[in-house]
Amino acid sequence: MQSGFRYAGRVRVFVTGGTGYLGAALLRLGPGQPWVLGASYFSGVPKQSGVEWVWLDIRDARAVEQALARFRPEVVIHTAYSKAGPEALEAITVQGSAHLARACAKVGARLIHLSTDQVFDGEHPPYAESAQPNPITPYGQAKLEAERLVQAHLPQATIVRTSLIWGFDPIDPNSQMVLEMADGKRAGGLFVDEYRSFVFVEDLAQALLELVSLDFQGVLHLGGAEVLSRLEFGRLIAPLHGRDPARLPAERRAEFSEPRPANCALDSSLARSLLHTRLRGVREVLHGLR
Ligand SMILES: NC(=O)c1ccc[n+]([C@@H]2O[C@H](COP(=O)([O-])OP(=O)(O)OC[C@H]3O[C@@H](n4cnc5c(N)ncnc54)[C@H](OP(=O)(O)O)[C@@H]3O)[C@@H](O)[C@H]2O)c1
Repeated sequence: MQSGFRYAGRVRVFVTGGTGYLGAALLRLGPGQPWVLGASYFSGVPKQSGVEWVWLDIRDARAVEQALARFRPEVVIHTAYSKAGPEALEAITVQGSAHLARACAKVGARLIHLSTDQVFDGEHPPYAESAQPNPITPYGQAKLEAERLVQAHLPQATIVRTSLIWGFDPIDPNSQMVLEMADGKRAGGLFVDEYRSFVFVEDLAQALLELVSLDFQGVLHLGGAEVLSRLEFGRLIAPLHGRDPARLPAERRAEFSEPRPANCALDSSLARSLLHTRLRGVREVLHGLR
């Protein structure tokens, strides 16, 4: 469900996880735009100026409520999460999201909640918003449970499922891993048989900020336009960082001990019909740099 939405004056937008990869990209787009930005940090060091920063442990429901009551956001973009083990998944990713949704309901803020293509099992791509989730990893299960709790506390929330986020300024952790493998500094290889809709961080941040002014409710898929295996992705970005793509080691999912979804390609045609921002494929972004 969606319709154009206009706020009076500058919109107050609060970003959880402002020190994270996506959160920082959102804040970089902020200056000069028609919003007032607040953001939370936890163990990281806040960098972006012109932002009202608050230290917040999202596991603390009362602190979450107080932070929102103080900043009084009209829209919250929730990027904070952790997958550092089962306890973090439950306390931060699942319960932290529930605390935030409850606090948004209390202060009357809209919530744009970040979720993942990993809620799918990877067997029936491409996945549209109507597809049945069936996560096969603890991370995917926690993110699906977070979605469920967010929708229970705040049925009008926007749930954005995205794919592997990449960028080069600064470089993202997945690209960093590619470079370490190319340099022989990291064991293992890049999967030839695991496919994702790699999304460029600046396109994703722009699309999320565009969503701020759209009263869209429910699930929306924001994946990049090109589906690639991890090895294909690595081979495309290696030359950008001065590395030889031929040096990248390949691996198959079956050689990995944990289950991993094979192909979580997202069907993002609904987003294409709603947003001006284009979620470009990796080749298109790289071509634009020449
Ligand atoms: N990265 C991807 O490829 C990808 C793919 C699909 C979906 N997503 C989703 O996109 C979102 C953003 O991902 P990302 O890669 O940008 O994440 P990230 O770089 O790992 O950042 C995570 C953020 O969460 C904050 N955080 C961790 N524990 C916290 C706590 N207890 N209380 C409050 N904040 C806490 C961190 O703060 P400090 O750094 O200050 O500790 C950091 O700002 C996540 O919801 C993720 O599930 C990501």
